[in-house]
Amino acid sequence: MAESGVVGRWVSAPGAHDIVTGKARYCPDLDFPGMLSGKLLYSPHARARIRHLDVSAARKIPGVIAVLTHADIPGENSYLYAEPDQPLLVVDEIRFQGDAVAAVAAIDEQTADAALRAIQVEYQALDGIFDPLGAMQAGSDQVVAGKDNILMHKTYRTGDVEAALASADVIVENTYCTQWAEHAFLETEGGVSLVDEDGVVTVYSSCQAPHRDRMQVARALGLPESRVRVITPYIGGAFGGKDEAHVQIHAALLAHATHRPVRLIRGRKESILTHVKRHPFIVHCITAATSEGRLLAVKARAIADAGPYSNATHEVLNKFGEFIGGPYTVQNLEVEKIAVRTNNPITGAFRGFGAPQAAFVYESQMDDLARKLGMDPLEIRLRNGVDSGTRMYTGVVVREGKAMKASLRKAAEMIGWERRGELERQPAPHLRRGWGMATILKGSGMGRGLPDHAGVLLEMHRDGSVVLQSGAADMGQGIVTVLAQLAAESLGVDMSSVHVARADTARAPDAGASCASRQVMVSGNAVLRAAVPIRNSLLQVAAEKTGIGKDHLSLRGGRLHVDGEPHDFSVADLAKRALFRGYPLHAEGRYELEYPTDAPEPTYRYSQEIFQFCTQIAQVLVDCETGQVKVERLIAVHDAGKMINPGGVFGQIEGGVAQGIGYALTEELRVKEGHTLNASLENYVIPMALDIPELEMDVLEMPEPLGAPLGAKGIAESPIIPTAPAIRNAIFDAIGKPLYQLPMTAERVLAALDAP
Ligand code: MOS
Repeated sequence: MAESGVVGRWVSAPGAHDIVTGKARYCPDLDFPGMLSGKLLYSPHARARIRHLDVSAARKIPGVIAVLTHADIPGENSYLYAEPDQPLLVVDEIRFQGDAVAAVAAIDEQTADAALRAIQVEYQALDGIFDPLGAMQAGSDQVVAGKDNILMHKTYRTGDVEAALASADVIVENTYCTQWAEHAFLETEGGVSLVDEDGVVTVYSSCQAPHRDRMQVARALGLPESRVRVITPYIGGAFGGKDEAHVQIHAALLAHATHRPVRLIRGRKESILTHVKRHPFIVHCITAATSEGRLLAVKARAIADAGPYSNATHEVLNKFGEFIGGPYTVQNLEVEKIAVRTNNPITGAFRGFGAPQAAFVYESQMDDLARKLGMDPLEIRLRNGVDSGTRMYTGVVVREGKAMKASLRKAAEMIGWERRGELERQPAPHLRRGWGMATILKGSGMGRGLPDHAGVLLEMHRDGSVVLQSGAADMGQGIVTVLAQLAAESLGVDMSSVHVARADTARAPDAGASCASRQVMVSGNAVLRAAVPIRNSLLQVAAEKTGIGKDHLSLRGGRLHVDGEPHDFSVADLAKRALFRGYPLHAEGRYELEYPTDAPEPTYRYSQEIFQFCTQIAQVLVDCETGQVKVERLIAVHDAGKMINPGGVFGQIEGGVAQGIGYALTEELRVKEGHTLNASLENYVIPMALDIPELEMDVLEMPEPLGAPLGAKGIAESPIIPTAPAIRNAIFDAIGKPLYQLPMTAERVLAALDAP
């Protein structure tokens, strides 16, 4: 792609001004005449049988327009991610605190609340199943009658792990625990639905996957998908927590039942109690190496608490297993992946999708190994790191892998790794300073064998202005900005000439979910393809008008250029002429990620093959009296393949690291007998500005061959992944005692200090 400077330049998001001035409209801002307030009724029990449900009194309250139970759902009563096993409205058994029993729509919030209070439910409380290890035992009570509590149990093996363990010079063996974590998006889940004059059910929602949501809404309503339309207004964050459908389906059910607009927005507490969480894991891991620090084998067994329903559990555990060997050349690997049903919170996608749990394990193991061998943590990582051409333990051949070692070296240089001994390790009697690194890989894209494509519609008008219709949800990550840049660059116009419409399933082709750090590759490349015929039409007209061969002509900055020099004709002149002549100035672009067949098929199912390599190094100061950890410096070096909007890339790194610091030190949903005790941002502690050091970042650009011609790869997930293990290793370096449980709260640091 010829570049005129729109791509690769720091640009602000097209909606930035509206966002910061409060003009941008999010779900809660949408208002339609006659709009009703929707609300859901939840059970006070984590597990109970519904013996009797009576909504008649609620229905009689003036101003209550609809009260729906499972019996009022015209279509399928379930969400659908992979397995449709979570009911939209419970039929007979409550299986977790977020199961909804009824949905109401009323003229205002107070009346809706009154309706919820008037619903009579007789529950028979049941003993819940809250311990995943107990739930795995034969003969355990079943969370879903007739179904095994073991939702998933898969083992992947490659090489000869037992032989490698037998021949190892050194072995580290530990058990790790990770926590339930909350996305804490600024905007909670919400949906606004209305039925238009043609009977089409329209749903505005804060979501990641408009076209998949359309399918789910149609399924619940028993309508053809052609009668359902999903539009995304502005969205205030998602991080995987809106990858699964949420209240937009209930909003649609209520709008369909009442034929009035319905707005259903979750409050913060409701949001924390109900939407999917990052899976807590218990991982037992054995890592073996030679006396020179060469990795011989990794053997891991992971047990994840899934909650009662499957949601994205299979996929998340699959990614966990895919990355448990880290960015290393280890060839003998065994990973056992077990997910257990309980009556605890439901779980699913969260930035990193299983990879943060894996990285906490393998990068902690690397430091434990280095310490046992007396090796430098940098050296042991460089010695085992993958590179371009490495065949991984998954069978994937790394096409572009230089960033693994390059990011390690660059991060070490930035923090002054070799000179860290010059800084005081004990600046006061109770303070200890330490340094720790983590280097990771995470794939971009859905993975080999899974559909991974996107379409866009691009159209230029006679004034040279451009409309781009994309189905990719922009949750704040900035895909709209990137697509606008690419359209502007490819058509030779300014970015201000391009309008990217909010994703609308009635207008835009399916782009799949905004997940798996994929949209920049798939939708980005789709824009480049859509631009080709439009540019050809414009250049054809230019050639006809000027009599100059097309090879000499180009478009940039809204103007025709001849051999690189500006010409009198603007792009608008050419567009007007082209449309007059009937040349097409609109096109669909479609891109599908295609995996080359020049290497043997990977042995790990659905493996990703485009890697976001990165390294982070933390410098911490531990207060040995209080157990508090201060992150003094954090270096982050990431590979983006190619930056389209550098501001967006650095923004993703900043946000990911901030979330990673929370995951490392403070964030933990405390769940007791299925009830979340800290369902508030007052006591679910996310980092504040003062908890985040000024980040020192660098971005490498090593173009990804699979994403050609763009060469960009997603950067959305990798930034959160190395942060927790880097901090863990820094704490270990500071206090000489290892931690194996997240988050590393002050209490746990003190306990580690007291350990023998
Ligand atoms: Mo993302 S965790 O792949 O929605």
